[in-house]
Amino acid sequence: MFQPVKGSEQAVATVTFDRATRQYPGAKTPAVDQLQLEIADGEFLVLVGPSGCGKSTSLRMLAGLEEVSGGRILIGDRDVTHSDPKDRDIAMVFQNYALYPHMTVAENMGFALKLAKVGKDEKQRRVGEAARLLDLEPLLDRLPKALSGGQRQRVAMGRAIVRDPRVFLMDEPLSNLDAKLRVQTRTQIAQLQRRLATTTVYVTHDQVEAMTMGDRVAVMRDGLLQQCAAPRDLYRDPANVFVAGFMGSPAMNLFTLPVTDGAVRIGGFSLPLPRSVADATGATVTVGIRPEHLEAGDSGIEIEVDVVEELGSDAFIYGRPTEDTQGADTIVARTDWRNPPAKGSRVRLATAPEHVYFFAPDDGRRLS
Ligand SMILES: Nc1ncnc2c1ncn2[C@@H]1O[C@H](COP(=O)(O)OP(=O)(O)OP(=O)(O)O)[C@@H](O)[C@H]1O
Ligand SMILES: [Mg+2]
Repeated sequence: MFQPVKGSEQAVATVTFDRATRQYPGAKTPAVDQLQLEIADGEFLVLVGPSGCGKSTSLRMLAGLEEVSGGRILIGDRDVTHSDPKDRDIAMVFQNYALYPHMTVAENMGFALKLAKVGKDEKQRRVGEAARLLDLEPLLDRLPKALSGGQRQRVAMGRAIVRDPRVFLMDEPLSNLDAKLRVQTRTQIAQLQRRLATTTVYVTHDQVEAMTMGDRVAVMRDGLLQQCAAPRDLYRDPANVFVAGFMGSPAMNLFTLPVTDGAVRIGGFSLPLPRSVADATGATVTVGIRPEHLEAGDSGIEIEVDVVEELGSDAFIYGRPTEDTQGADTIVARTDWRNPPAKGSRVRLATAPEHVYFFAPDDGRRLS
């Protein structure tokens, strides 16, 4: 096991964003707007959201690489809002984890310790331990150019680990890897983090990465935190239409439909609105159903199948409702991979009432 090296007891490494705001000079709106987020000691927190939503800016504020224009940032009890990056006891892994090309793996990993004037024996011990954790022992004497992409990524991780920081910050560290290696490496990082129990803030735009790695996932959009919850809760209980559509693949079907006599119609099927939803909405309502909750049968929404997507263990059909198409042009449903319906055929899709979500069409808030 990896031993903490800085004394026996490390201070509790919670992270608090207390209405932290960053407005870039000349920008009309803040890149990060009053971010309120408390991260527990040892937690793996993922920041996720579309490009430009403020993930990197949030992380860089925590690292001290970006000025904070309002609010505070705390690590443990300590207000670090204006402290120097080097006084924050954090280690960051970036997407472009440039390794020093003329240094071996061991030298790359030990470089920060050398700068910090850590003794030679101690340095060797820490590099050795990190190399063991990361399966890099046989590669310690190699130069970066003689490593695969995945191995280089592990060296970048090792460089962060040897510093034994209070908080790891990672900004899309896997995006340079190919799809298969990314899946492998994300599991390794998640396992490693659990072993080290170091508080980690991890940025990605990939919702699958977010769901599989995070203890909790914070979903951002346009600089605003939308919801922060355990992956399962985000999936089951999205706070608004944005989170509902962002988490899940393929994305949730979302239709904004006219309300008539307390019901909406899609594909010849009438869906009555729960009383609370009917009371809370006006002439239209946004209805959400996940593809995996639609099942082919004798009744329900009738669609004509346009595309059949077979992925091996799963199959999805994409089709158009045959009637009542207003507000619903394409519907996606998961289907039996052993026996998917043919292109051009007509299928009826049904779901249980508990799998139907309702959202306000104006601001997207959840109504049910
Ligand atoms: N140095 C800067 N000066 C001005 N505006 C910036 C600067 N850096 C980022 N921005 C803007 O702030 C917003 C948030 O950027 P940020 O880099 O935090 O997004 P992100 O969520 O990390 O996106 P991506 O997934 O593309 O990395 C964007 O609108 C971006 O254009
Ligand atoms: Mg970014």
